[in-house]
Amino acid sequence: MTLLEKARSYEKENVKKISDEERPVYHLSPATGWLNDPNGFSFYNGKYHLFYQYNPYSTRWDAMHWGHWTSEDLLKWKAEPAAMAPDMPYETGCFSGSAMTYKDGRHLIMYTAHNEFDKENGEHFREETQCIAFGDGKDYVRYEKNPVLTVKDLPEGSYAEDFRDPKIWYEDGKYYCVAAVRMKDGLGSVLLFESEDALKWTYSKELLHNDGSFGDMWECPDMFELDGKRVISFSAMNMRNTSPLFRNGNCTLFCVKEDGSDIQAMDLGFDFYAPQSTLTKDGRRIVTAWMQAPESGGTCPDSNKWFGQMTFPRELTLKSGHVYQKPIDEIASLYERTVEKEFLAETETEKEEIRGRAADMTVIASANEDFCLKFAAEGDIYTSIEYRSSDRHLILNRSHAGRGASICDYREILTNAEDKLELRLLLDKYSFEIFVNGGYQALTGTLYETPLTADHFIFKGGKDTVKVKFNSIKSESCLKY
Ligand code: FRU
Repeated sequence: MTLLEKARSYEKENVKKISDEERPVYHLSPATGWLNDPNGFSFYNGKYHLFYQYNPYSTRWDAMHWGHWTSEDLLKWKAEPAAMAPDMPYETGCFSGSAMTYKDGRHLIMYTAHNEFDKENGEHFREETQCIAFGDGKDYVRYEKNPVLTVKDLPEGSYAEDFRDPKIWYEDGKYYCVAAVRMKDGLGSVLLFESEDALKWTYSKELLHNDGSFGDMWECPDMFELDGKRVISFSAMNMRNTSPLFRNGNCTLFCVKEDGSDIQAMDLGFDFYAPQSTLTKDGRRIVTAWMQAPESGGTCPDSNKWFGQMTFPRELTLKSGHVYQKPIDEIASLYERTVEKEFLAETETEKEEIRGRAADMTVIASANEDFCLKFAAEGDIYTSIEYRSSDRHLILNRSHAGRGASICDYREILTNAEDKLELRLLLDKYSFEIFVNGGYQALTGTLYETPLTADHFIFKGGKDTVKVKFNSIKSESCLKY
């Protein structure tokens, strides 16, 4: 039995042991076991395909496989059999990568073969190369001449140990990919490669180099166009907490200007990493990310049969040089019940009709008064987002959510609020995503330990009314087998 056959038979057997009720409502979770990065996000043969870094056998990171889901509408997903296992002599893990439709109609995957083991002489070996697999949307076969990119193709001073996460695309008759590498100075860099046929690749140039201000190694680069401008996104490891703009230890960043002078944080919450984008059928640039901070990646409650979720897909747009994010509009077809209210909340106020743990809610309050929203609340348990009008700061507080004390639970950011503060909250059983002022900023976090009975929303404003549009979300899980 190959490793892939073993994984497929294991997940077939074990996926049934996880009920719909134990899964998030509209956020993706692994078939079984562990997930991290989204991979191979693409539209192929009439369907969206989304793969993921996957260890079917436990809720911890280990030898990486590729899990697989498909969807027609980006809302309801079907779990497909695992797509790849580290079956090849050149890999002990199938690390992150991307996918696209190849010129002959096959689905092409470009991924990192991670190879790491102790040799008989006791030395440790570690190498990362880029490889290709072709498939039909279900079964994938490795290209016989793998690897297609190795350290030999890289500029001098690149490390073979850290060279990964190719993101491929086709443009003006050529294939391109970006990948991340660690250079001699220990710092990450985003490199561009090009190819006539996606099989023979050549190094083109370095697009971005870490000058030491953004962590050390970079991972999962992506490059795309927004409003005619090139945007690069990448995830920086081991950021120092010296800047008020970048609070995540492992932090995803956008680079909008080609000279790298304007770096923006993609998410200012707790749990967001390694995003990957694709184009929708109708030309929107959308992105999904691993909804977890790698630094707290091992904090799965022991009772969980699965661990790791993807963010709900976000549409990206560029306005005045800033990348905005909003949940894809398709979400409206998941609404079950809509409540619109405008009320005074001079003391903590609840509304009977505004309850639940799966919702898309927008709140508009005056930006000249303090405001606080508590959600996933019940008694002493809640998560809150508080606005301090004196300095226009938002404070996200997860320290009462029922989690272990060692987990990061506090963020404070400067908003762009002028007259009004708008907060859009996507709440699910085990997570929240908050979009500030039309998606100017986003704050994401998991809520694994908050009891599901904590379903109250509590508002506290000032002398101005608070406007709320609350949409509860149909409770059926988005994932089918
Ligand atoms: C990012 C990452 C990638 C790598 C993968 C391994 O979370 O470290 O760089 O390819 O995860 O699972």
